[in-house]
Amino acid sequence: MPADRKIPLPPSERSAIPSFLVMDVVIDAARQEAAGHDVVHLEIGEPGGGAPAPALEAAAAALRDGALGYTPALGLPALRRRIARHYRDWHGLDVDWQRIAVTTGASGGFVLGFLASFDPGARVLVADPSYPCYRNVMAALGIEAVRVATGPADGFQPTPAELDAIPGRIDGLVLQSPANPTGTMLDDARLAALAAWTRARRVRLIVDEIYQGITYEAPATTVLKVEPEALVVNSFSKFWAMTGWRVGWLVLPEPLVRPVERLAQNLFISTPTVAQVAATAAMDAEEELHARVGIYRANRDLLRQALGRAGLDRIAPPDGAFYLWADIRPTGVPASELARRLLHEAHVAVTPGMDFDPVDGENWIRLSFAADPERIRIGAERLEAALTPMIRRA
Ligand SMILES: Cc1ncc(COP(=O)(O)O)c(C=O)c1O
Repeated sequence: MPADRKIPLPPSERSAIPSFLVMDVVIDAARQEAAGHDVVHLEIGEPGGGAPAPALEAAAAALRDGALGYTPALGLPALRRRIARHYRDWHGLDVDWQRIAVTTGASGGFVLGFLASFDPGARVLVADPSYPCYRNVMAALGIEAVRVATGPADGFQPTPAELDAIPGRIDGLVLQSPANPTGTMLDDARLAALAAWTRARRVRLIVDEIYQGITYEAPATTVLKVEPEALVVNSFSKFWAMTGWRVGWLVLPEPLVRPVERLAQNLFISTPTVAQVAATAAMDAEEELHARVGIYRANRDLLRQALGRAGLDRIAPPDGAFYLWADIRPTGVPASELARRLLHEAHVAVTPGMDFDPVDGENWIRLSFAADPERIRIGAERLEAALTPMIRRA
């Protein structure tokens, strides 16, 4: 009997992963704008300013002159060598360029890194609050993300004692420094202690260092200084301000190089060629990019002071990245409701915390200060005006 074509075939169970709640805020903000309101966007973690000038020039030249065919699956050798030099310049480290894999953003790096490291059923520790895609990508790949709750006392970063308290077999640990949504960082000593914990238990250590270069107090270290066998994820999206170009990289332990190459050949063939050319040139535009960090710093201070005057002063130390993770309990309103009210009444879009911490997130909001300084100034004024009476009443 012919199959009934009217009954749609269901999607796979593995595709039923959560979406980004922040996208609901983005859609609601667009509705507010369509209704004529001027909305200040503090919800999205996207640097302003676009790619640095040398990247644009190199891309234009490549479009004019280049054949722009596929590159090797692990990336253009010139870019891989340039990234290796970056570790020498920034950290005084010799990293073999052949251990570097160029990926379609850090996001493509997660898929390759997780597939090469873990089998279905693996259990991987993820510290909450954290970037939501770690656990969502793992869910799609059949990997179990095991929650480690962190708190303000340790800068929302896990400690070996907290990891020890997790029962059952553990195959991996994902860390980030500087972190999203908190902006907190791990120094060499804390990274070394966590790395020692993973080494002693033969647990794969993966560290997302995407916000390196965007730091305000001390420069960010790299885990490679204390654990050369760690798998590092990085990207041109944040410090290099090249979100839409989709270029990132992995630094791989040697035994994972060939597996990642095989996976990349089959899953992606290669990262977009014009974007790799632009990224190579961007690495020589550091001065322009460091100047932007100065702007983020001024934005951070302005926003933090405005929140403090309103009565929100429990904020994770924003030492890096471009986010404030603020405890909103003084308002007496859960984060999802507060975000809705701030958008509809003050026309400021912020991200409720549930994206980053599914358990405790209703007590927190994340504010991005990557936007243009004038917009941050307006947003800070509106937030102070909206929050002050709420907190007085609560
Ligand atoms: C911590 C973290 N890792 C990875 C990503 C994804 O970066 P990419 O644009 O390189 O895919 C983001 C994006 O916001 C992030 O915040």
